[in-house]
Amino acid sequence: MKENNILIFDSSEKLVESFSRHFMDLLNKKEGGFNVALSGGSTPKIWFEYLAKNLKDDIDWKRVHFYWGDERCVIPTDHESNYGMTKKYLLDHIKIPVQNLHRIHGELKPDVAADKYAQNLSEKLPMGSYPIFDLVILGMGDDGHTASIFPHQIDLWKDKKYCVVATHPDTGQQRISLSGSVINAAQSISFLVTGTNKAEKVMEILNNAEGSEKYPASHVRKNDDVFWFLDKLAASRLKF
Ligand code: 6PG
Repeated sequence: MKENNILIFDSSEKLVESFSRHFMDLLNKKEGGFNVALSGGSTPKIWFEYLAKNLKDDIDWKRVHFYWGDERCVIPTDHESNYGMTKKYLLDHIKIPVQNLHRIHGELKPDVAADKYAQNLSEKLPMGSYPIFDLVILGMGDDGHTASIFPHQIDLWKDKKYCVVATHPDTGQQRISLSGSVINAAQSISFLVTGTNKAEKVMEILNNAEGSEKYPASHVRKNDDVFWFLDKLAASRLKF
């Protein structure tokens, strides 16, 4: 991955402003529908707020189809729901057709939710060996997890299933996550990572440091279509 795929910003606001331009570039390069897998977490929330405030009338939302990269096994109105967070900070503020929203049904039994979502992906997305998103947006935890694949369940990354049932290592909360096979099948991938607490893992992963393979985020492919949007705190251990 070239250094120019690693973009560093003074603040999360500058980061999401630049990422919005990147998002719109990718959308404009595509004909027809644009299938995006969203992430939960604090940085995507900042991006949603930015879109709702500054670009709600500048994007042709009829072309955008929102999916999720992972979801907590809760009802959509639960404060833990990634869909619920997206609805509060973005979906309620833009004119996006309801049929363009493809949430993971976290309120169902986890295995049922995972199978239902996998079925949905295979019916609605272009298919290669796996369903193909135009863009997968990822965060990274300070333990190196991404989507909801955590280090203690690193085997889920290579699972042949499209969606897996994962468990948060501290809370035991069950989650539905795209497997690494689907994440790496995407046309384009963007990490949005902010905060000092991510700096060590960002440095290890982007330098392919020995032992970094234990972090699920390290298994996201590194090529020209993968971009890391970092604030200067998350990038503070990088040396160019
Ligand atoms: C989730 C996200 C998760 C998130 C990381 C980073 O469901 O929480 O999918 O992978 O991106 O935990 O979260 P922060 O950006 O809030 O640190």
